[in-house]
Amino acid sequence: MGNKLLWLCLLTALLGYYIYSPIPEDVAQPGTVMLVSAALRALGHLSEAAELLGLTSYMEGLRLFTVLELVPPTSDENVTVTDTELSNVPVRLYLPRKAPGGLRRAVLFFHGGGWCLGDAGMRGYDLLSRRISNELNAVVVSVNYRLAPPHRFPAQFEDVYSVTKFFLQSQVLAQYEVDPGRVCVAGDSAGGNLAAAVAQQLSQDPEVKTKLKAQVLIYPALQALDLDLPSYRDNTHKPVLSRDLMVRFWSEYFTSEPALREAMASNTHIPAEAGGLLQFVNWSRWLPAGMRGAHRYSSPAVGGAGLGQSYPGLLDPRAAPLLASEARLRGLPPAYVLTCEHDVLRDDGVMYAGRLRAAGVPVTHRHATDAFHGAMTFLAWPFELALGHRLLSTCLDWLRENL
Ligand SMILES: *[C@@H]1O[C@H](CO)[C@@H](O)[C@H](O)[C@H]1NC(C)=O
Ligand SMILES: *[C@@H]1O[C@H](CO)[C@@H](O)[C@H](O)[C@H]1NC(C)=O
Repeated sequence: MGNKLLWLCLLTALLGYYIYSPIPEDVAQPGTVMLVSAALRALGHLSEAAELLGLTSYMEGLRLFTVLELVPPTSDENVTVTDTELSNVPVRLYLPRKAPGGLRRAVLFFHGGGWCLGDAGMRGYDLLSRRISNELNAVVVSVNYRLAPPHRFPAQFEDVYSVTKFFLQSQVLAQYEVDPGRVCVAGDSAGGNLAAAVAQQLSQDPEVKTKLKAQVLIYPALQALDLDLPSYRDNTHKPVLSRDLMVRFWSEYFTSEPALREAMASNTHIPAEAGGLLQFVNWSRWLPAGMRGAHRYSSPAVGGAGLGQSYPGLLDPRAAPLLASEARLRGLPPAYVLTCEHDVLRDDGVMYAGRLRAAGVPVTHRHATDAFHGAMTFLAWPFELALGHRLLSTCLDWLRENL
């Protein structure tokens, strides 16, 4: 009996230790955040173990989270929801039911998940798209682009680009009763990366006549050159997205070779070919003083001979929009950029907001000091946070004014 009790105590302590992770003090509902973090961490560990045992790959394991969260396309009183294809790419389409009373807005939405995970049909994304569609009277096209592995850059980019370009044709806009002057791209995390990249590429594409009205970048990932920015240092082990996981996502976007991941982990992957692009990730220049904290800048060590040739995506603005020249940024549509304090990707978004402004692009930058990566999709039980609703409402308010 005593023995069993001892084991029980030990097990409880272990479980408590496992679930417990320090949640930043200013983040509300720490219990919920801790549970989500623990669930994700446990799934990560199980996936690592399964990969070691040769049962499944690490990313396949993590994909279980996506699968568990999937909901079917269900229409409600306000919005008709269908899974279909546009330009041969699967999309979930949200059409407002109320009589348009004129032409509608449209939002092309790209979900997050590190180019490896996620789905337009996950509960959080489904709710988000529904609310955008209903409250803005907008057609929402939420794109299920191909994922890594097996698909690598530029497959993800090409899918979202081809859907966007297809949708922007005048006869397609007319078919959906969409005003050509009120279309935007939006995305969170890896989807914010894709939205920024699509906005850049469209403005260079002579075949596209319709211009985007806006771009919405929710805690976007924008560069993989310097993975030792202050935000990476400050938030190595914060909820949802640890530095290790972000490194894994970036490396999986380009390759399955562990060599890149290992080099990224120690930030020794910066290709010798990076040269002049380093100025665009120079945080001593692009981060406001208040966001540099106590960190001291030193130029990242350029080493990785040949890495630029092996993984050209590292230097390609379609994968790393922050590396775009000023000429490529000029004339981009007005941007809404959301960054979160407790997020490894914080500085990517802050620097991009700075670069867009310097290039004359109107920018609304919201920085949520009490938020962590992914917070905007925590919209339904058991992963519901007041923070998620607040971030979404703020973004919807901006869209109401600017789209
Ligand atoms: C339909 O729209 C109304 C008005 O915006 C809202 O109050 C209601 O909750 C919506 N219904 C659903 C199922 O979302
Ligand atoms: C980064 O910017 C600082 C000025 O803020 C400059 O002194 C330094 O040379 C720059 N380094 C690189 C690698 O661009």
